[in-house]
Amino acid sequence: MYGVCQILKEIREHRGITLQSVHASSGIHLAQLSRIENGKRLPTLEQIQILAKIYKCDEKRLIIQRESDRIIESIPYPEIASETLKVAEAKVIYGSQYLTLFPEIFIEPKIGLESRRYIGNKASLTDWIMSIIKKYTPTSGTFCDIFAGSGSVAKKAIPLFNNVIINDFLFSNNIIYHGFFGNGKWSVEKVSEIIASYNAIEIEHLPDNYFSINFGGKFFEYKLAKLIGYIREDLEKMRSNLTYKEYAVLIASLIYSIDKHANTVGHFDAYIKKPITERPFRLKMIDAQSYPNVKIYREDSNSLARNISCDVAYIDPPYNSRQYCRFYHIYENLVKWEKPALYGVALKPAPENMSGFCTSRAPLYFEDLIANLNAQYFVVSYNNTYQSKSKSSANKIKLEQILDVLNKCGKTQVFEHSYNAFNTGKTVFVDHKELLFVTQVDNERKRKAFTTLLRG
Ligand SMILES: C[S@@+](CC[C@H](N)C(=O)[O-])C[C@H]1O[C@@H](n2cnc3c(N)ncnc32)[C@H](O)[C@@H]1O
Repeated sequence: MYGVCQILKEIREHRGITLQSVHASSGIHLAQLSRIENGKRLPTLEQIQILAKIYKCDEKRLIIQRESDRIIESIPYPEIASETLKVAEAKVIYGSQYLTLFPEIFIEPKIGLESRRYIGNKASLTDWIMSIIKKYTPTSGTFCDIFAGSGSVAKKAIPLFNNVIINDFLFSNNIIYHGFFGNGKWSVEKVSEIIASYNAIEIEHLPDNYFSINFGGKFFEYKLAKLIGYIREDLEKMRSNLTYKEYAVLIASLIYSIDKHANTVGHFDAYIKKPITERPFRLKMIDAQSYPNVKIYREDSNSLARNISCDVAYIDPPYNSRQYCRFYHIYENLVKWEKPALYGVALKPAPENMSGFCTSRAPLYFEDLIANLNAQYFVVSYNNTYQSKSKSSANKIKLEQILDVLNKCGKTQVFEHSYNAFNTGKTVFVDHKELLFVTQVDNERKRKAFTTLLRG
């Protein structure tokens, strides 16, 4: 290798200086000088400074020569030396921006189902719920989560049951289930490439769109709103080139990626009325799996109940007047992408999928559901927020009414767990308890009790 040692020797000879006189004027031992010139050892930085003065040459250039020799010596594989040096150079040039140059070579952690903010989600309770289900419902047949919401309970049931039914009447929840669990064909490489192409977009150059005009600067930072609207429109345009699973993974990834950027306290009933700070955004892929034993529905619970059978029916309806379709109207709008007219300060579309369980008739809906759902076991989640002072948080069905209906079907056990529920912070739930009712159904008893309500 032609390095700093050879260069020093050539400069000295070119200048017509003897080694002896270099030794005399530098104080560097003669043997050391000849070891340097023979390439047996590199000069120290101090020696370079002295020699540069004697040879009247640029000290910095000599140091650069010395350091590059050191780097080359430290690379153990000559075949990748040149490539390694190019990468090192790019790292020096781009500094902290370096990673943004090559997003495709880094494996991004996928977003988990439980990471979404969802009112009433049982993500932190699924171990407790499943441990009770496994102990008190001795079957591994079909599990049905008929008000699946975030889907976290259903997800826990997938490895434990032969078949799992997941239902929720919201469009956004349904596409999320298809993204995370649906069994269609898809290419992870294709979806990754599409996501990488969206991450490379320069938002400044995007035109305004339905999403940015309506929600920019309100529910989302304005530039991010532009990107969200652009991506959603683009997905619709390329839909015919995607399988349904790919489409669902991409839409669910969009929802999950923007969820952390929403300018809200966790739902879209209102936005925070303060200027929104711009934050870096990256579209990330959800942790999509394919399960042949999962059936996904988007139906009204009481209609679906009349058409399915299961071994364990997990029932976690809304218990107060707050409608989920109104809480999550932005995601409903984004998924349907029909660009409807919007109303009010929170820019909601016309109501759709309003739940009877959020009305004063909730006890009747509950009884109708239990009467018509064919299951060996009912497992019902309930919490004691009905004691809340806020009217909209007050429960529409009382604990005694649940027990009364379940007792008509068979022996019912009640389990209790202390729990900090996810709420927007306005409502304080004192001594919050999560209850789980488990009923083993006696079909004869049930049939007699509900003769007038049965599957009709
Ligand atoms: C309390 S949340 C369920 C939470 C869920 N267990 C979880 O862990 O996320 C109730 C869910 O029921 C859905 N829902 C309400 N009424 C419904 C109905 N009549 N039919 C189907 N789904 C309904 C709502 O959209 C909401 O997602």
